Amino acid sequence: MDIDYKTTKGMLKPEERQHLFDLARSFARVYGHHVIINIGVEMGGSMVCLRQGCPDADLYGIDIDLSTLPQDVNTALGSNTFLIEKDSLLYVPEVVLQHGLRVNLAFIDGLHYKKYVSNDALLSELVIPGGYIVFHDAYLWDNTDQQQPEVYPPIEDWLAEHSNQWEERPKVGTMRTFKRTE
Ligand SMILES: C[S@@+](CC[C@H](N)C(=O)[O-])C[C@H]1O[C@@H](n2cnc3c(N)ncnc32)[C@H](O)[C@@H]1O
Repeated sequence: MDIDYKTTKGMLKPEERQHLFDLARSFARVYGHHVIINIGVEMGGSMVCLRQGCPDADLYGIDIDLSTLPQDVNTALGSNTFLIEKDSLLYVPEVVLQHGLRVNLAFIDGLHYKKYVSNDALLSELVIPGGYIVFHDAYLWDNTDQQQPEVYPPIEDWLAEHSNQWEERPKVGTMRTFKRTE
């Protein structure tokens, strides 16, 4: 793969790229079937981080418009990548109801409005114990640690309902990361 997660185009800070790669890598060596879901694909930056962290994972990329994904990135993501052009307001309730996927890592980076973040957070129901959910843009981009007002509050609402099952990990860039404990 010529494409490198550290440099491929994407709306991610260097430490966020490394974080996604490291999380995916943390379960890549554990025997089993690995599943990653990424809401918000755009040019594929986060998808490449996740793919290169865990080459054998089934990687699902959901976006309402996949026309911005460069062909070479698409090709580099490999045949175990499943791109789904759909509004997450439709995709997430459907996949949660099916309950067939056991997800190691869900990365939430779709539309940054409360309604969408709350909706996309429902993917947490599919995450297995020991797995992760990561929300991008929970903090403003400018390194001030200020909360993004459309993203941070719905994460707090989600956490209030699920705090007994999730433990928060340190902030990385604009990201909030939670590990499922049970
Ligand atoms: C910030 S970008 C994602 C950036 C990407 N994760 C990266 O690493 O560069 C947000 C993406 O969410 C998509 N999006 C917006 N509304 C959506 C929705 N309702 N459902 C799914 N995707 C949506 C946009 O088309 C856009 O590509």
